[in-house]
Amino acid sequence: MAKAQTAFTCSACGAVHKKWNGKCEACGEWNTIVEEAPLSAGPAGKSLGAAKGRVIPLSTLAAHEAPPARTASGLEEFDRVLGGGLVPASAILVGGDPGIGKSTLLLQAIASFARNGLKCIYISGEEASAQVRMRAERLGLEKAPVQLATETNLRDILTTMESERPDLVVIDSIQTMWADMVESAPGSVAQVRAAAHELVTFAKRRGTAVVIVGHVTKEGQIAGPRVVEHMVDTVLYFEGERGHQFRILRAVKNRFGPAGEIGVFEMTGAGLSQVANPSALFLSERGQSAPGSAVFAGIEGTRPVLTEVQALVAPSSLASPRRTVVGLDAGRVSTILAVLESRCGIPFAGLDVFLNVAGGMKVTEPAADLAVAAALLSAREDVALPADQVIFGEISLSGALRPVGQAENRLKEAQKLGFTTAIAPEHTKAGVSGDFRMRKLPDLVTFVGEMFGA
Ligand code: TYD
Ligand code: MG
Repeated sequence: MAKAQTAFTCSACGAVHKKWNGKCEACGEWNTIVEEAPLSAGPAGKSLGAAKGRVIPLSTLAAHEAPPARTASGLEEFDRVLGGGLVPASAILVGGDPGIGKSTLLLQAIASFARNGLKCIYISGEEASAQVRMRAERLGLEKAPVQLATETNLRDILTTMESERPDLVVIDSIQTMWADMVESAPGSVAQVRAAAHELVTFAKRRGTAVVIVGHVTKEGQIAGPRVVEHMVDTVLYFEGERGHQFRILRAVKNRFGPAGEIGVFEMTGAGLSQVANPSALFLSERGQSAPGSAVFAGIEGTRPVLTEVQALVAPSSLASPRRTVVGLDAGRVSTILAVLESRCGIPFAGLDVFLNVAGGMKVTEPAADLAVAAALLSAREDVALPADQVIFGEISLSGALRPVGQAENRLKEAQKLGFTTAIAPEHTKAGVSGDFRMRKLPDLVTFVGEMFGA
């Protein structure tokens, strides 16, 4: 029989290599590869087991297996991101920077689920019971029917879960959990993988929903254990800018609902409060229409969200001018700058460019292209755009404007918030009602002409 080989795992991305190396070929990080005991496929020398991997015809399942019965927490922003509520036996990973508010969010969520009749256990490996209790008091939740445990030993946690049989368990955080059958330190890839695997297995076997909290490193990866993402049903990221009170919970992966869905919260002195109308919030800081500002009518998940794209263009003293982009994809911004230069003859060479989405929001839709171009042009020419106008559309490399999805929703939201005009690509399939006007344009050159009356 072949000897099981030692595996070498990257602690940053979870990639498995045959031999040790200074640099991980998968993610490019240095000094992240660690040796791990091999994963075994079963007892040695036994290739055929009893027929435990039982097979059942798919057709016998369909008839009586109704869609999973979800439980709503009543915290609507949270429920929506889950796809309408909590599915029994599901495993959910909540990732985010340390201090962003994960523990706060989950304590509020678990209290809501408990009040709706679920048996809930909150397991904290990071804070003492007194600290959790203080947080609960601050949130006004000290009377919620939630069971609390401060424990890091996985075996003890599983034993408790086995005897209590809760409907929902929150593990805060996976980096503090420690499985005694694995030798490495808590927080290492091997530990995190083993602990997550045990918890997910428990969830599936006992029908308990398990929420796993994971800290993200500053590079934006869930520290070490990207592996956890593959094991769970749902991956949620809790994001926000430090110094801003807005927090966005985003579904990156969801087996039970649409990915890309967001929930918007505001961090207050008494916990997170839900933001029912994010557009109004993101635009609330907008004063008089100033050069460099454009309002983008976007879609996040299933709902429209209006955001303000802000640009600043200034003469540069550097050989290669600055391109500072916050909240937008830097690669796409470079492309837009190149298209403006080569298709419209508007150069940005010798100019520093700063771009930002107001309120700490992240916009990843290509539909934001035209709003980005508009903000850039407006800043460069020092001409303010009309304050009551929203913009959306994708820019192709030829400079043509491509229609984008859900135009109707975007326009409705703009109308609802008091905007009166929209600029959209030529073949946009949507009508507008009332006084609302829509300008449909074929390409960027026409847009530049319209804007500056040239
Ligand atoms: P926390 O939930 O502990 O973050 P995480 O679990 O992601 O590390 O949140 C910590 C921050 O939130 C801390 O800076 C204090 C702030 N906070 C409030 O502003 N209001 C509150 O009601 C609470 C509980 C925390
Ligand atoms: Mg915490």
